Amino acid sequence: MHVSFNLAATFDAALKTAATAAGFDAADFSPEVRTADPKHGDFQANGVLPYAKRTKQNPRALAEKLVAALPADVLTGSDVVIAGPGFINFTLKPGALQAWLREFSTRAQLTAGAAVAYSGQTWVVDYSSPNTAKQMHVGHLRSAVIGEAVCRLLAFSGARVIRDNHIGDWGTQFGKIIWAYKQALVTAPADLEAALAAEPLAEFERLYKVGNNAADADPAVLKEAQQELVKLQAHDPENTAIWKRIGEVSFSAFQQIYDLLGIRFDYTLGESFYNDKVDQVYRELTECGLAAESQGALVVFHPEHPRFKEQPFLVRKSDGAANYASTDLATILYRSEHFKADATAYVIDSRQGDHCQQLFLTAQKWFDKTNRKVPHLEHVSFGTVLGEDGKPLKTRSGENIKLKDLLREAVERARRLVDERSSDLPEAERARIAEVVGIGSVQYADLSQNRSSDYLFSWDKMISLEGNTAAYLLYAVARVRSIFRKLDATPGDATTEAGANAIETPAELALARKLVKFSDAVALATSSLRPHFLGLYLYELAGEFSAFYAADKVAVEDPAVRARRLLLCARTLLVLETGLDLLGLRTVNRM
Ligand code: ARG
Repeated sequence: MHVSFNLAATFDAALKTAATAAGFDAADFSPEVRTADPKHGDFQANGVLPYAKRTKQNPRALAEKLVAALPADVLTGSDVVIAGPGFINFTLKPGALQAWLREFSTRAQLTAGAAVAYSGQTWVVDYSSPNTAKQMHVGHLRSAVIGEAVCRLLAFSGARVIRDNHIGDWGTQFGKIIWAYKQALVTAPADLEAALAAEPLAEFERLYKVGNNAADADPAVLKEAQQELVKLQAHDPENTAIWKRIGEVSFSAFQQIYDLLGIRFDYTLGESFYNDKVDQVYRELTECGLAAESQGALVVFHPEHPRFKEQPFLVRKSDGAANYASTDLATILYRSEHFKADATAYVIDSRQGDHCQQLFLTAQKWFDKTNRKVPHLEHVSFGTVLGEDGKPLKTRSGENIKLKDLLREAVERARRLVDERSSDLPEAERARIAEVVGIGSVQYADLSQNRSSDYLFSWDKMISLEGNTAAYLLYAVARVRSIFRKLDATPGDATTEAGANAIETPAELALARKLVKFSDAVALATSSLRPHFLGLYLYELAGEFSAFYAADKVAVEDPAVRARRLLLCARTLLVLETGLDLLGLRTVNRM
C-alpha cells in the first residue's frame, strides 16, 4: 500500500471522497483535519459541524454517513470514532504507524514526501536586507534567522526558493558619507587609510556620523553633502568609486555573519539596482489611474481602506527623487517578470507593517489593472528583541549591540557549558561543539518564539540544557547518536531494520505517533511561515524520546525487539536532524 507523508492530508482527501459519495455538496464542505489532542486520537476532523449548521442538518447523523462512506484502507489503517456533536477522530493502528516509519527512513524520502505541497511554486524570500555603511546589530538578527528558516521550510515543501537580500544601498546618507570621507582625505589621509584598512565598515559608519552631525550643525555642509549625492546620482567617477567601496566592505562584513548563520543568498539586489526601473512605475501607476500628483509628489490613495484613504502611499518625493516605496514597487515587477515569482515573503520588522500593507495593496491593484498575474505578497512580520529590562536590547552604554559581538559572546558562553560537561573531549571538538551550540542557541531562542511577539533576550535561558532550547535539542541528537555508538550499530541500517517486529509498548507507540506528525508540524510551520511550530514539535519529540528511552531498554537480547527499538531511535534521529536543519541549525555527534 502506498503510504503518504502527510497523513492529515490523506485523511482530508479520504473525507472529501467520502463526502461526495455520501451526497454532500462537495464544493461547500471542507473536512478540516488537524492533529488531535492525544486523548482523542491522532487526527480530528471538525468540518462536519459548520457544514451541518450551514445546511441545517443533524451533525452526528452527517458524521455517521460520512464515516460509512470512507474508503476501505482508511478503516483498516485506523480506528474511526465519532465524538461529541460530530467530531470524527482517527487513531492510527500500530501497523499504519510502522508502515510510515518504514517508508520514510531517509532524508531523501522525507524530502520527496514533503515536496508535494508547494511543487510548481516560485517564492522569493526577501530577508536580512540591512543597509550598507552600517554594521549589523542585534535588530538585524531576526530577519536573517527567521528568513533563513522560512527559505528552508519552503524549499523542503517543494517550492523553488529565491533568496534575495534587498540591501539598502541608496539614499541621502551617501552624500554625507562622501562629504566626510573627502574631508578626512584632506585633513588626515594617513589616519583615514589606517582606519579603513583595520575595520573599514566601522570607519564608514563613523564617517556617516561625522557627516550627519556636520550637516545638522551647518546648512552649508548640508548643501555640500547634497551636491555630493547629486554627483553620485549623475555617475561621477570619484563618488561612484567611494560608493562602490562602501558596498564592498559592507558585503564582506555581512558575509562573515551569514557564514556563521549558514546563510547563502542567491541575489543581493539592493535598492540601487532598481534606481533606473522606477520611471516605469510612475508612468504605469499614473496611466492606470492609481497615482496622482500632490504638491509635486506622486501619491497613491486607497479609498476603501479605513486609514490609507487619508494617509497616502508616497511613491515619489516632491523633489522628484525615488524613495523606499518606488524601489519596492519596481522590485515587485522585476521579481515577477525576471524570476517568475508567484509569491514573495518579506521578512521585516513589524514596525514596517503599514509600508508593507500599502505596498501590497498598490502592487496588487497595479498588476490587476495592467492584466498581469497578481502575486501573493506576505509580510512575515516580527517583534523587537528586548533586553531583560523589557526595553530594546542595547549595550550598557546605550549603544546597539553589534551582531558579530553577540555571536562571539554566544560561542564563548557555550564553550563554558561544553567545558563543564564534556571535559573529556579533545580541545578541537569542544571548540566546534561550542560554535554549533552557541550560534544555534541564538538562532533557536528567536525561532522558538512566535515571531509576532517581541522576544526577551536572556543568555541564561538561551544557553541552557533545560526547556525548549537549542542545547536541549542538540543534546537529544547527541544522545541518540551515542546509543548507536555504544551498540556499534548504524542508524537506519536496512538489514537490522528488516528484522524488526511490531511495535507494541505504550512508550513505543507514543513515540511513533509523535514521529508520524513531523509532516503536520512542517506543513503548519510552512503555511503560516512560523518556524516556532516546528521548534515546539521537535521539543515535544525529544521529550517523547526521553520517555521511551526511560521505559524501554534498547539493548535487549531479543534481536527483533532490539531492531524495532533501534528503528525508533533511528527515525527520531532523522526527524530531529532534519527538523533542526530546516530551522538552520547544525548538529553535533557528541556533546
Ligand atoms: N533595508 C530595510 C531596512 O533596513 C529593509 C528592507 C526590507 N525589504 C524590502 N523589500 N523593503 O529597514
